[in-house]
This record gives sequence, structure tokens and C-alpha cells, in this order.
Amino acid sequence: MYSEKVMDHFEHPRNVGEIENASGVGTVGNAKCGDIMRIYLDIDESRIIRDVKFKTFGCGAAVATSSMATELVKGKSIQEAMQVTNKAVMEALDGLPPVKVHCSLLAEEAIHAALWDYAEKHGIKIEGLEKPKSDIHEDEEAEEEEY
Ligand code: FES
Repeated sequence: MYSEKVMDHFEHPRNVGEIENASGVGTVGNAKCGDIMRIYLDIDESRIIRDVKFKTFGCGAAVATSSMATELVKGKSIQEAMQVTNKAVMEALDGLPPVKVHCSLLAEEAIHAALWDYAEKHGIKIEGLEKPKSDIHEDEEAEEEEY
């Protein structure tokens, strides 16, 4: 059910940990399952992501997608990091089972939240970046409650 790449990143996740005095930190939760992800970014003066670490209280797919997402943004510019969507991460992992697609959103949202934190601290605006939600799937949950 999982690709070899997913298993590899789940068993040997890259960039696990935290960065002291990080340039930006983002924490997001998945309202569907209660899993939480935190991403730390170290961004230099030329706005290049020098280092990135993550921590998660999440399922295997969340671990694998975060691990891959950190690999994809490391060494990249902020604008390049904005292109690292959950779709791009899933493609890099050779896909995820449909029921696990929502898990890959955690990584994308956490990166966006960390970039938002960085932008706020530096008084800059990152093109295409919107204020992150603290709980992903918030809107969806609200809709479901109507039934
Ligand atoms: Fe919660 Fe995967 S089940 S992130």
C-alpha cells in the first residue's frame, strides 16, 4: 500500500529535530485526526533556507511527507519553497494511498506557517502566502457539522 520511498522516509526520516533561534517556526494541527506538526526554518540574509527541521506527533504518512518536504525546501529560496505543495511532495514520494492524502497537507501548511512567522518577524510580505490556519480542515469540519 505504501511506496518504497514512503517506507524509507518513514523508517529513516530526514531533518528531525528543532532549530534554536529559528528564523521561522510553524505549528499546525490536523483537525481530522488530531495530529500535530512543527517546522523550523533557518533562513539567511539572501532569503535562502539554510536549514530545516521538523517534529511531528503524527501518523507514518505525516512523518514521511514532512521528511520529504524538508528535503525539498532545504537550500531553496523562499519563492521556491512556496512551490513545494502537498501534491509535489506526494509526487516525490511516488504517491500516497487516497485515505492518507490529508496527512500530506500537514507538511505544506506547516512550511507556510513557518514562512508566515518569518515574514512577520522581518516585516516582509511573501507573494502568494496567506495567513495560515491553525487547524487544517477547519472549513471542512464546519461543513460536516451541518449534517
Ligand atoms: Fe493524522 Fe495522518 S492520520 S496526519
